[in-house]
Amino acid sequence: MDKLVIEGGVPLHGPIRVSGSKNAALPILLACILPQGQVNLTNVPRLRDIHTTLKLLDILGCETSFDGNNVTSTVCDLKVEAPYDLVKTMRASVLCLGPLLALKGEAKVALPGGCAIGARPVDLHLTAFEQMGATFDLDSGYIHGRCDKLKGAHIHFDFPTVGGTENVLMAASIAEGDSIIENAAREPEVVDLANFLNACGAKITGHGTSLIKVEGVSSLHGCDYKIMPDRIEAGTYMVAAAMTDGDLLIEDCPFLELDSVVYKLEQMGVFMQEEEGGVRVRRKNGNLIGVDITTQPFPGFPTDMQAQLMTLMCLADGAGTIEEKIFENRFMHVQELMRMGADIKLKGRTAMVRGVERLTGAPVMASDLRASASLVVAGLAASGRTDVQRIYHLDRGYEKLEDKLSAVGARIWREKE
Ligand code: EPZ
Repeated sequence: MDKLVIEGGVPLHGPIRVSGSKNAALPILLACILPQGQVNLTNVPRLRDIHTTLKLLDILGCETSFDGNNVTSTVCDLKVEAPYDLVKTMRASVLCLGPLLALKGEAKVALPGGCAIGARPVDLHLTAFEQMGATFDLDSGYIHGRCDKLKGAHIHFDFPTVGGTENVLMAASIAEGDSIIENAAREPEVVDLANFLNACGAKITGHGTSLIKVEGVSSLHGCDYKIMPDRIEAGTYMVAAAMTDGDLLIEDCPFLELDSVVYKLEQMGVFMQEEEGGVRVRRKNGNLIGVDITTQPFPGFPTDMQAQLMTLMCLADGAGTIEEKIFENRFMHVQELMRMGADIKLKGRTAMVRGVERLTGAPVMASDLRASASLVVAGLAASGRTDVQRIYHLDRGYEKLEDKLSAVGARIWREKE
């Protein structure tokens, strides 16, 4: 297994480019099952999860090619089973349920099981598909869904589930009749998927709001589509600039989609401004102030930025609180940050962070994707050496992170553990 070694204390300076969004690319890749004809995707990030998804598409009978930025995909002889040994490595595989049920009337997908941050059930997905006419059996860890022809339905989600909204959007795009999705997720990645489906001939309106309407069409065609930039990668670089008291120009930064993060960072004393070529990020006047954060569905503060903001709060004057309301176990980075000298107290799903003078480098363990990113950012600011172990978690969602950070001055390199 690999680890990242960081000699901290260097302020980061210069331009850093954001790659395509992992959480937009994954559903859009699986949506490539739907159209007849070739799909050409650009700005696809080179990540472990992308390779896993391309492997799943191959298993399902799609012919794909990936040159590190562009993906082409054509559906050939479509299969209906997503195997456990692949699904267990990436929960997003469950997003093939919608396309397969809609196209083939059958789907056999291994139940993804939980992960480090929580149980991650898919009950809301299944209930919605049952309303559209599917029936499900649970058979030795596999969800086996069947239907004659999926029909449009009036779906109401108890919780604005991102994956559930995406799964239903894909299925409803070629279901018989019209669908309404109430309490739909409003995340920018859901909007990117809807825009992709519309580029393939779907008739989706209201995406980005909590009320989405879909007019089912008989079939979809191929298209060319560019994946949106990754707002969480961009937000991570904003924190890295503030953490190291540096000055970064974040290129291809989806600034608008980061509104709730920008608002909190400004409250903490971070200066951000759109300029020619990107967004400039540095501290306003040297010190940072603690804030209170509660993670919410979009447009609220994103749970995927919780660990990174906690790391920044470790160096702020005063105290702040972070309430994690989306996932039940997303504080795995807290113990590791405390090994670096952070002062954090946990009470249920709320963390109380008191700022300290400095963090000190230490060997730490990554546990999930965003926790890994927060430990790297902590290491960039800490005095001394930090070894972040098990960075296969990080490789799932950050393209060439050590190369990008080295290019703006970080002393960071990869080693075998
Ligand atoms: C997506 O996960 C993202 N993953 C996550 O990013 C992100 O944290 C999450 O949305 C929230 O924004 C991808 O897009 C691939 P949800 P998803 O369905 O779709 C509960 C990262 O780091 N729930 O909105 O799984 C669930 O348990 C990853 O990039 C049900 O109870 O998120 C959770 O508590 C981590 N039943 C909450 O809703 C369901 O049927 C949010 O889940 C579905 C979800």
